[in-house]
Order: sequence, then C-alpha cells, then structure tokens
Amino acid sequence: MTAGAAAGYPTDLLELVEEYLAELDFGADRRAARLAEAMRYSLLAGGKRIRPVLTLATARGCGADPTTVLPTAAALELIHTYSLIHDDLPAIDDDTLRRGRPTCHVAFGEDVAILAGDGLFAEAFNLVLSRQSGECAAVLAALAEIAAAAGVQGMVGGQYMDVAGETAADDDLRTLHALKTGRLIQAAVVCGALLGGAADVGPHRAFAAELGLLFQIVDDILDETGAVDELGKSVGKDRALDKVTYVSRFGMRRALELADRSERRARELLGALGGDTADLAAITTFIHDRRW
Ligand code: IPE
Ligand code: IPE
Ligand code: MG
Ligand code: MG
Ligand code: MG
Repeated sequence: MTAGAAAGYPTDLLELVEEYLAELDFGADRRAARLAEAMRYSLLAGGKRIRPVLTLATARGCGADPTTVLPTAAALELIHTYSLIHDDLPAIDDDTLRRGRPTCHVAFGEDVAILAGDGLFAEAFNLVLSRQSGECAAVLAALAEIAAAAGVQGMVGGQYMDVAGETAADDDLRTLHALKTGRLIQAAVVCGALLGGAADVGPHRAFAAELGLLFQIVDDILDETGAVDELGKSVGKDRALDKVTYVSRFGMRRALELADRSERRARELLGALGGDTADLAAITTFIHDRRW
C-alpha cells in the first residue's frame, strides 16, 4: 500500500515532495561523497512523507501555492530522517531494517550513520535559510518552530524519555509520544500555516498536536499488528525491548479505542481551522487507517 491508496489523499503533493527531495544536492567534497551517499540512501528510501505533505497541504489550505513551502517541508523530512537513523542505532532501538532497506548503520557503519544523521539535521536548517522565500518574520517563525520541535522540548526530549523509560504514569507516556513524534508533526502543520499566511496558527497547533499523538498510537499498534513487508521495518520490536507503549500500557483493545478517540478529536479540532481542510481531513483518515 502507498500513501496514495487512501481516498482523497493529496498524491499531487506527495509527488512534489519526492521530486524536490530527489533533486537535493548536499554539495559534498569528493572526500565526503560517502557521507552524502549515506544521507541520500536513508532520505530517498521512500517513507510516507507525512510531515512534508502536511506542510504543503496546510499551506494550500490557507490559499498559498504549495510549491512555495517546499524548502521548509523538505527540511522537516530531513530532520525526521535523521531521527530515524539515530533511532535505529544499536545504542537506541538496534534495528536492522528501515524503509524496506538495511538501516543506515548496517549499510554504512555506525560512525557514518551518526554523521549522516548530523548532516541531515544541519542541512535542514541550511535549506530553510538559503531557499525558503517569504516574509522574513514568517520564515524566522518557521525556523524557531522547527528548532523547538527537534530539541529538548520536542523530538530529542521525547527520545530521551523513551530510552530512559520515563513512563511511570499514563500522563508520562502521553507526554513522551507528544514530544518524540507529535512535536515534529505539529511543526509541519504550523510551518505550513505560518508560511501560508494564516492569521492565527493556534487552531493549527491544537489540531496537529492531536494528529501527532494519533500517529504514534497507531505506530505502537502497528508494531504488534503490522507486517514487515508493508511497514518496511521490524515488528514486535517494542515488546522485545520492553518498551512502554500504548499497547503494553493499555492493551490492544483499549489502544485501538484510544486511536479512534484521538482521530475523532483531531477531526473536531480540524473544524476550527479556517480555509480548505479537505487535504488535512484525508491525511487524518490515512494516519488512522494506515497499515504502514
Ligand atoms: C516512524 O515515522 C517513526 C515515528 C515517528 C513513529 P514514519 O512512520 O513517518 O516513517 P516513514 O517516514 O514513513 O519511514
Ligand atoms: C521513534 O519512535 C520516533 C522518532 C523520533 C524517530 P519509534 O522507535 O517507535 O519509531 P519506529 O517504530 O522505530 O519507526
Ligand atoms: Mg525508538
Ligand atoms: Mg524505533
Ligand atoms: Mg515504533
């Protein structure tokens, strides 16, 4: 199954993202060619591209030309890919399969994989700073959003809570999910709104926080119920590593109910956004129903 298989999913935006990512050139010195190769190996292995598609869809919903936000959308995919490379390292989740291929450290070695992640993170900011057009204030606000979402109050903070097992209370688990996954998904929507010219990004922020939580609840479910050939990554890994997830904490039946509840809540919050929300509604359905 592909992202495009979901009814109403904006495949035109997915194509724009794929084309843009494929053309990125990190300008590596020939002596660093293998670093750039490792970066492109993971980046172009074909993920769902949910984050950049969300940025484009949100901007289009605000009435902007989606191609104008491609640098920022791509930057979010670079940061996401970096987070996957590091997440898969032996010291973290120790995974050997990602996006249907051997993980970056399996293919290139741990040393190169760590640097490939670092490179993608830095090049993400380079991309926004050198290529994103628009009002200075909006571009700066988008940069601030991305930096915060990637940092201690975002993805990296959540990943720390995951590795440190900071999950004693149900609320801790919700916070972990909101940070490690939700925050970058939220940034994708908020950046689309900021650059698309939304007057108030508050409703976008609230909608996307719920969407991000939904995304990780479904990720936890798929770790139990998914198929390796559909997901392109290992399954049963959370259980093997004794991770606290929505499934281990609440049981499968309740986790599925919580995913349904989160999807309903996301739809309600979507109703508070101005503009055209058809693409975002279709993406919400996809995130809930996905098998990969
Ligand atoms: C996987 O993200 C890691 C999480 C944040 C749950 P995705 O499911 O978006 O992975 P790709 O980008 O499609 O490979
Ligand atoms: C990782 O969560 C989230 C990131 C910030 C990369 P997981 O560890 O559950 O992601 P998968 O299941 O390996 O894709
Ligand atoms: Mg992990
Ligand atoms: Mg993992
Ligand atoms: Mg997972």
